[in-house]
Amino acid sequence: MAGGRYLLLLAQEHLDFRLAEIKSLLSLCGGRFSNQQEIHVNSPFWILDISSEEMTRELMKRTVCAKSIFELWGHGKSAEELYTSLKNYPVERMLPYLQSDSTYKIGIHTFNKTLTQVEKIRKIDALEFLPFGGKVNLKKPEHVFWILEDYGMDPNNIPEDPLHLYFGRWIADGQRELIESYSVKRRHFIGNTSMDACLSFIMANHARVKANDVVFDPFVGTGGLLISAAHFGAYVYGTDIDYNTIHGLGKASRKNQKWRGPDENIRANLRQYGLEKYYLDALVSDASTPIWRKGMLFDAVITDPPYGIREATRRTGSQKEISKSTEKSTENHVFVSSNYHLSDIFFDLLKFSAEYLVMGGRLVYWLPIYRPEYTEEIIPQHPCLKLISNCEQMLSSHTSRRLLTMEKVKEFKDQDQYSHLLDSQYMPYKGHNSFRDKYFSGVTKRIAKEEDDNQK
Ligand SMILES: C[S@@+](CC[C@H](N)C(=O)[O-])C[C@H]1O[C@@H](n2cnc3c(N)ncnc32)[C@H](O)[C@@H]1O
Repeated sequence: MAGGRYLLLLAQEHLDFRLAEIKSLLSLCGGRFSNQQEIHVNSPFWILDISSEEMTRELMKRTVCAKSIFELWGHGKSAEELYTSLKNYPVERMLPYLQSDSTYKIGIHTFNKTLTQVEKIRKIDALEFLPFGGKVNLKKPEHVFWILEDYGMDPNNIPEDPLHLYFGRWIADGQRELIESYSVKRRHFIGNTSMDACLSFIMANHARVKANDVVFDPFVGTGGLLISAAHFGAYVYGTDIDYNTIHGLGKASRKNQKWRGPDENIRANLRQYGLEKYYLDALVSDASTPIWRKGMLFDAVITDPPYGIREATRRTGSQKEISKSTEKSTENHVFVSSNYHLSDIFFDLLKFSAEYLVMGGRLVYWLPIYRPEYTEEIIPQHPCLKLISNCEQMLSSHTSRRLLTMEKVKEFKDQDQYSHLLDSQYMPYKGHNSFRDKYFSGVTKRIAKEEDDNQK
């Protein structure tokens, strides 16, 4: 099927993550996002040039940011402009879908306005000039066409007429239903920091996870990020410093439940979704001292490192450090631990990924940000990794976290371990270390609680 212009209808959620998702998925499907395409990043309607209809279907099998895709037959800033545009669309491209022995239906989708049934019918009737040959079938049509109307972004100032109108043939829906079917609310094993389902799928998409990949999460927690990777057919592996988390012991995170029940573990989570065959293992291990033999082992590293807000940042400690800080509790169980500074966490994570990712493999992780101090220079760098995208999720007016996607572009050589000593641009930024203090400083209890609720 020939390529052409397609209309992507996006969900108005996680706006900052959408472009990176669509770009990553297009490249995963063998396509390319052309910089020529003019899109308004915050709009729910994007017109894209995609090289084949098959590619649009592949894209929609993966995206959680987009709702649907349509073959665009016409568009304009007024009804007249839309009709003129439709009259100019090549008839030979329409005819296969308008045959006399076919059935069809026309729907209307509006953004920022609700139309009455009478208004909808009037707009559908106005398309009579199109050479529809088939029969209308509202229940099970072979072909579905849509009028899509955009009434702008301001709910307090809705114009009488739409600002943009589109007409197209529906091709496929995206994977928005995964957000509900994988909701942590109904997940067997959860923790305080279990990653929200939608963001987990976005992360797997930014990482371009594909079937038979091996995906690793060094800060695995309850395995939220393994689940989305396994859903896309990757074999998954994780480590966590917390014995109780890996073994499903200790206090439960659910209200009305004191202790974790039997089988509350990552394997059982994967089993819940029919994904157990993709589970390689999860072990108790400290990310600051990797346990792996040398070699490029992972297709993707996807992780949410601890920031010290809802969980401690720890690593196994030396004897000297034991006397300073020994942690034993029933809730979190790390035998001996010392503080693991955020700047070291990110430095180690990049070095680990540079060494253990396959070429072209991706690292996707969250970086906490104190917004007043944010500049691009504080984004951790490594000579073997190229920054692909940097998307912000606000946590409060002064804090956020950024989802960073990096791709391995250069083979790791022994001297790359010491790159930070040779080149100041790879020096870890120490300001990350005080994120916890800044997070709580000057934040009233009320604001802290709001942020807490936002993260749930
Ligand atoms: C933000 S949570 C990850 C949550 C996870 N994405 C999920 O869906 O449940 C960070 C995890 O890192 C673990 N952790 C902290 N320090 C660590 C270290 N040095 N090595 C490995 N894991 C560590 C914590 O025990 C915690 O489970």
